[in-house]
Amino acid sequence: MPPTAAEYAARQEIPVAQVQSRAPRPTIVGPDTLEQPFPIYLVGPVQKGFGRGGKDLGCPTANLPDDSITPISSVAKTGVYYGYAQVLPPQDHLSDFHNADLKVLPMVMSLGWNPFYKNKVLTAEIHIMHNFKSDFYGYEMRAVVLGYIRPELDYISREALIEDIEIDKQVALNCLQRPAYQIYANDSHFQIPESEFKASM
Ligand SMILES: Cc1cc2nc3c(=O)[nH]c(=O)nc-3n(C[C@H](O)[C@H](O)[C@H](O)COP(=O)(O)O)c2cc1C
Repeated sequence: MPPTAAEYAARQEIPVAQVQSRAPRPTIVGPDTLEQPFPIYLVGPVQKGFGRGGKDLGCPTANLPDDSITPISSVAKTGVYYGYAQVLPPQDHLSDFHNADLKVLPMVMSLGWNPFYKNKVLTAEIHIMHNFKSDFYGYEMRAVVLGYIRPELDYISREALIEDIEIDKQVALNCLQRPAYQIYANDSHFQIPESEFKASM
């Protein structure tokens, strides 16, 4: 059993990124039904990261504060994961928030030290696969992590990282198509079930 992300953090040790492999990647990963430790539920206010995801990688990420990532960092190794996420504005901002931005949406998440950028602290960065029309920093984000895609890697170039993130997104979408995973879009962890949205759109 590899060390969890929290075990590395407690030892103040940053895991060595695995050497990048450019071998063709599978388009779907993991079993057809969920395996332990999934599902993992996360909730917390969206924090700003360094902003490189949006600027450098064309992949903006919403970060969760340290105390919100314990449910995953205490049981899982570092790496790239997939699942669903939802952003919930406070009641008094609800009317300014676009309806489509409230949906339960597919997401990919990077848990670790971003070896390409050599971060010094453990972060969980969620990229929600949706073109948000509203700003949501400080708003509550709820997520359910359903599966693991790959380890975090170092890359010889930004382009190589971008290319792998694009593949991660496609892999995540394929994985979420499986019925045992799809049902989590309607999980009670989310406030407005996907089915209600479909009906109201
Ligand atoms: C799906 C996904 C996969 C990622 N994979 C890696 C990776 O393998 N190696 C790495 O160094 N960073 C990886 N990242 C993290 C990005 O480097 C990080 O999101 C970026 O630095 C933005 O962070 P910032 O907004 O705090 O600057 C990944 C991010 C996402 C969303």
